[in-house]
Amino acid sequence: MNIDELKKAIESHFASGTTATGNESAMDAFLELRAALEQGKVRAAAPDSASPTGWRVNAWVKQGILLGFRIGTLTGLSGDGLSFVDKHTYPVRRFAATDGIRVVPGGSSVRAGAYVARSVVCMPPMYINTGAWVDEGTMVDSHALVGSCAQIGKRVHLSAAAQIGGVLEPVNASPVIIEDDVLVGGNSGVYEGTIVRSGAVLAAGTILTRGTPVYDLVNGTTLRATPETPLIIPPNAVVVPGSRAVTKGKGSEWGLSLYAPVIVKYRDEKTDLSTTLEELLR
Ligand SMILES: CC(C)(COP(=O)(O)OP(=O)(O)OC[C@H]1O[C@@H](n2cnc3c(N)ncnc32)[C@H](O)[C@@H]1OP(=O)(O)O)[C@@H](O)C(=O)NCCC(=O)NCCS
Repeated sequence: MNIDELKKAIESHFASGTTATGNESAMDAFLELRAALEQGKVRAAAPDSASPTGWRVNAWVKQGILLGFRIGTLTGLSGDGLSFVDKHTYPVRRFAATDGIRVVPGGSSVRAGAYVARSVVCMPPMYINTGAWVDEGTMVDSHALVGSCAQIGKRVHLSAAAQIGGVLEPVNASPVIIEDDVLVGGNSGVYEGTIVRSGAVLAAGTILTRGTPVYDLVNGTTLRATPETPLIIPPNAVVVPGSRAVTKGKGSEWGLSLYAPVIVKYRDEKTDLSTTLEELLR
């Protein structure tokens, strides 16, 4: 099948609801999509200069990924030669498909349907979910998560415990996008379709969601998601976790403040040095 034929097949099997389960041609279409995803021939979202955000969501690809969950049945997945030693009184619990619990294999694992380019480095434990795209030269450090359909550019550093949220449904929702040369600091979280433009730096502990306003001290503006567009972090912005005073009601009376990510500067030589040192430390 060429891509157009595959798109039509996926859309029609997705529309057929539960009748796709057990349908051989639905399985064939899904397996073809999964292989195409793994080879980087199709992706859940792709750069598109005609779109206001610069990215186009391929809803049919996300439909195909959802189809794969719908038509899949639970099965045992055998080990891959790893060995472990621990107190005999606390052996590893074992599960069978009939237990109805899904235990995804591996301290690190890359799920079928994810595209991982050559030269990507994966430090254990980390997880790359289906539909994700991880481009050349990117580092996925320990405890990092690349959620379903997330798009990670070239030479990105996802530091230890960085969480990149997945967005599978609704199918037309934009996934989280991290463009080229971004540094996502340790313990950061990027969720709900947020776009981080190329060269940006998220300091350790920065959390970004649709509902998080970001305060740009350099330009004197506040960045927010709108009903039409996700939160977008500009190119080369250096975002650090900050706080803002609550100025109304009880919050003000009690002297509370809320978490507020702040753009303190745009990438300069010092930032390049800080992030290069991080690279050398690896
Ligand atoms: C953001 C980062 C790269 C520093 O960039 P930088 O360009 O060198 O930043 P600067 O030191 O010039 O700091 C600019 C301003 O932001 C503040 N700042 C810097 N990092 C900050 C942080 N993490 N939290 C809060 N404020 C921070 C500085 O105090 C400075 O403000 P000031 O001038 O009022 O003092 C660095 O703080 C960082 O978070 N690195 C990632 C660390 C990490 O997660 N490593 C993972 C290894 S697996």
